[in-house]
Order: sequence, then structure tokens, then C-alpha cells
Amino acid sequence: MKNFYSNIYSFNLRILKKTVKYLSQGNLVAIPTETVYGLAGNAYSKKAVKNIFKVKKRPKKNPLIIHYHNISDAEKDVIFNKNFFLLYKKFCPGPLTFILKKSKNSKITPFATSSLKTVAIRFPKNRIIRSVLKLIKFPLAMPSANLSSGLSPVNALDVFEEFKKKINIIIDGGNTKIGIESTVVDLTGKPKILRPGIITKSKLNRFFKIDLSNNKFKIKSPGMLKKHYSPGIPVILNKKPKYSNHAYIVFGKKFQNYKNYFNLSKKADLKEAAANLYKTMRKIKKIGYKKIYVTKIPNKGLGLAINDRLKRASN
Ligand code: TXA
Ligand code: MG
Repeated sequence: MKNFYSNIYSFNLRILKKTVKYLSQGNLVAIPTETVYGLAGNAYSKKAVKNIFKVKKRPKKNPLIIHYHNISDAEKDVIFNKNFFLLYKKFCPGPLTFILKKSKNSKITPFATSSLKTVAIRFPKNRIIRSVLKLIKFPLAMPSANLSSGLSPVNALDVFEEFKKKINIIIDGGNTKIGIESTVVDLTGKPKILRPGIITKSKLNRFFKIDLSNNKFKIKSPGMLKKHYSPGIPVILNKKPKYSNHAYIVFGKKFQNYKNYFNLSKKADLKEAAANLYKTMRKIKKIGYKKIYVTKIPNKGLGLAINDRLKRASN
């Protein structure tokens, strides 16, 4: 593919082989997952992981998620427990990240985990990332493929917009199915949700009681910086704009089709809204609106994850 986006490739056997070779040499590749696109590098390689932080301009104290093909690939790096097995069986591969204790002889470079004693691990479901993970001999450290504190990318062009040609391979897997990042659950003690997502609290509560002490989603995760997921223009919540050069993100059928109104889901479907969230904010910014106002989104189920991202975007 020779055009302006000469580093964006459709997925085929040739690019799969090239990706495997590239990653094995310590280079970075942008790869789709079912949640958002990731910027992947060998989690055992100091060089690759340091480069991820550099390219993303990510603070060193914000650790990365390590991605595996299956449970046996991860057993040397982390210490499993009963709660992990319960959730793995039900939700993996899928959009769920586990915080577990790092094992003593883990090969994950301490740069990936910001020298913590714990590791975040995930088994993604998307077929492209899975076919890469299946062929390589190491796990992938893979944050969302965006500059730190910005919006996560949900298609290949979003990734290009973030890094231009600094990444040699961006694999095009179309729009991601889920559109927001995985749920992060801390299983090192009483189970806690550190980042809400499509696997909701009520789904997890069927297995064990989620600990809600020190209030809702109040985070000990170093990466849960207050300002995050920002489109780069002010975001104002639960308010209607006064001017037409301000965009209004709405939800449900009661809203008109005005030019500056952007409906996340006319049929008031939270899954559809999550899938449209980052895409819509990027679009609004690109059109040139100066501010984003957002209507109230129901704060239950997946709505909790959407509101979590909106709140951080508005900080
Ligand atoms: O859906 C996703 O999870 C995507 C795709 C690419 O897999 N990845 C992603 O990675 O969202 P990232 O780096 O953007 O977010 C990882 C989050 C951060 O908030 C980080 O602080 C947290 O996981 N995290 C990583 N290791 C941790 C640890 N040991 N303890 C607590 N939180 C941790
Ligand atoms: Mg991120």
C-alpha cells in the first residue's frame, strides 16, 4: 500500500509475519484490540518498553498492561489466585485486565511495571492481536496507542493522527468493537475495580463481592491520573451549550438533529454510546469546535465507564 498513510497496513499473512519479526527485534507496532488500538512492544525488552514510554510521552510512573495469548503463557510472570481463575474462565479472552502479584522470576522488565510488585495482565479477544500473540515468544506491553492524556484511538487513522510516521507499522483492523478501554480489576486483595469498563461491577459481583471501600472507583492505580482521555478542548458536563460554535454530545431520541449536536446513540444504547464516544470527540475537535458540552448519561451499567471517561476528559 503506497499512499500518504504508507505505514497503515491491512491485515494479511505477510504483514503478520513482518509484525512478528519487527516485534522480535524490539520495535513497536500499533495493533487493534477489541477495546482500543494498542502500541505494542516486547514486555521482556527494556529497549522496547522504554521506547513505548518515549513515543507516548508517558510518565514513567504509569505502568503498562502486559498482554498474553493464554493463561499458560502468563504463569511464569504472575501469581494466580482463586478469583483470577474464576474470572479468567468466564471472561477471557476479553476486555478485562487483572492486577496480580508479580512473580519473583518474572521476565517482565521493571520499566513496564514502573518497578511495582504487581502487574496488570490481559488476554485480548480481537483476532488480529491474538494471531500476533500466538506467534511471538514473549508477551506484549501495550498501552493505548495515543499520546499520554489524550483520547484512545479506535481505528488506524486515529493512531496515525497521534504518531504520524513515528510508528512504522499500524495494522488496520477497522473500528474497534467496544471503543473504550478494558475494565481493570485489582485482585491482589479484596477485589476492586480500578477502571470501569464494559465488564461491569454487577457482572463481577456475580463471582464475589467487589470492594467499594474508599469510595467509588477511588483509585490507587498510579495511572489513574485525574486528567486523561482529553480531546484537547474544554469538556463541560451536564450542560447545554449557548452558542452554535460549541458542540453538544447528546444521548437518546429526544434530541434534535442540529448541526452542532452529536448523538452517541439515538436509541439510548450504552454499548453503542461507548463505541462512539472517542470517535465523536475526535470528530468534534477536527471540525474545529472550541468547546464540548455533554448531556447527562445514565450512570448505571456501562454508563459508569462512559461517565468515568467523560469526567476525566473534563478535568
Ligand atoms: O483496553 C485496554 O486496556 C487497552 C488495550 C490496548 O489493551 N490498554 C490500555 O492501556 O488502556 P493503558 O496503558 O492506556 O492503561 C493501563 C491502565 C493505566 O491506568 C495503568 O495505571 C493501569 O492500567 N495499571 C497498569 N499496571 C498497573 C498496576 N500494576 N497496578 C495498578 N494499575 C495498573
Ligand atoms: Mg491509555
